[in-house]
Amino acid sequence: MRTVDIIEKKRDGKVLGSEEIKFLLEEYLKGNIPDYQISAFLMSVYFQGMTEEELKYFTTEMINSGDIVEFSGTHKFLVDKHSTGGVGDKTTIALAPILAALGMGTAKLSGKGLGHTGGTIDKFESIKGFKFSETKEELIKLVTETGIGIMGYSDKIVPLDKKLYSLRDVTATVSSIPLIASSIMSKKLAVYADAIILDVKVGTGAFMKNYEEAKKLAETMYKLGKQFDRKIACMLTNMDEPLGNAVGNSLEVIEAIETVKGRGPKEFQDLVITISAQALKMKGDVATMEEGKRKVIEILESGKALQYLKNFIKESGGDPKICDDYSLFEIAPEIMQYHAKKTGYISKILADEIGKVAMMLGAGRSKKDDIIDHSVGLIMKVKVGDYVKKDDVLLEIYHKNNLTQNIIDIVENAIEYSEIKIEKNPIIFAIIEGE
Ligand code: URA
Repeated sequence: MRTVDIIEKKRDGKVLGSEEIKFLLEEYLKGNIPDYQISAFLMSVYFQGMTEEELKYFTTEMINSGDIVEFSGTHKFLVDKHSTGGVGDKTTIALAPILAALGMGTAKLSGKGLGHTGGTIDKFESIKGFKFSETKEELIKLVTETGIGIMGYSDKIVPLDKKLYSLRDVTATVSSIPLIASSIMSKKLAVYADAIILDVKVGTGAFMKNYEEAKKLAETMYKLGKQFDRKIACMLTNMDEPLGNAVGNSLEVIEAIETVKGRGPKEFQDLVITISAQALKMKGDVATMEEGKRKVIEILESGKALQYLKNFIKESGGDPKICDDYSLFEIAPEIMQYHAKKTGYISKILADEIGKVAMMLGAGRSKKDDIIDHSVGLIMKVKVGDYVKKDDVLLEIYHKNNLTQNIIDIVENAIEYSEIKIEKNPIIFAIIEGE
């Protein structure tokens, strides 16, 4: 088999067989095919796409490039909820204890944040003493005992993705739907969970800015999950403005704890309840989303989910008292209140710009090795659609005397006003599930 023939076939829109895809990816991983040939192949995929069969073979090779993680012996229905990333996305922190209280388990690998979006690992590390599992055995023990198993990504899982992603990044091929779908799904499929729930974020703060493209991605990943015989649901959710009110690590964890107590910001609370109900439906515990939501609300009112969260924090080395005493979090001492420049309806709060501000304050990384500051961030006091008067407080910036005019200008440009009434954005646009 010759690499050039495979590239030519893809370039001309012909369908590749499993052996050709296997050859290409295996030999590339071994270092026997140079980057320039794979670059040409990726560009051909960018223009020609992949058939469902091709994508299945491609994803299979991705999965098989590294370790497969299975959680045998946990005796729980395991859920892996994955978000494509957004600003203020603390969903896993609130969701995992709720699922645990509902008798399910969370088993997932989470990432560190990069750029304007944060990572679950960083957020939990706002809790003093908190340490993540480092081995699969520790993770299994934790999920068995607490119902919550979260671990950082390991280089041993889908190593091919890292290699391909670096190349996609410099060859303008990141935004190819089949390449994104196989990249995300291979990492989900390599770690065994009974149900995969994908939260595909759409909007200014998301990886996918455009609804039609996001829908295509969600449908592609959904079909791929089905091809691998996995229970899967995909949600398309709003990331045109930050999720909830808090952006920044400690502030977000506090908001997630409030949500577990049933007191979270409305749209964030709705999102968490809907995902939990979806998980119950996939497990077969309820027949409808309405029934699932009622069950989730009962659990929230019982206080059980908070107990699971406390237990998880304790078993991970943190002090569970932090859930009742937020002064145990490190919070930046300086708070700047940002006031409305006009009277009117808030028509836009650009999530990517707010995420950028949080990053510039120190809450996120612009480079992989940056050290983050868990104490800084923002609290939004308004959402899109709210009516405000000039000089009302729109948001608070928690900082450590590192607030610059440039940061304030970014905030100013991120917020738009309208004299005409603006409808509130829905949090969930669509759910793809079933057959
Ligand atoms: N996230 C991933 O993991 N892979 C992609 O290709 C894009 C987003």
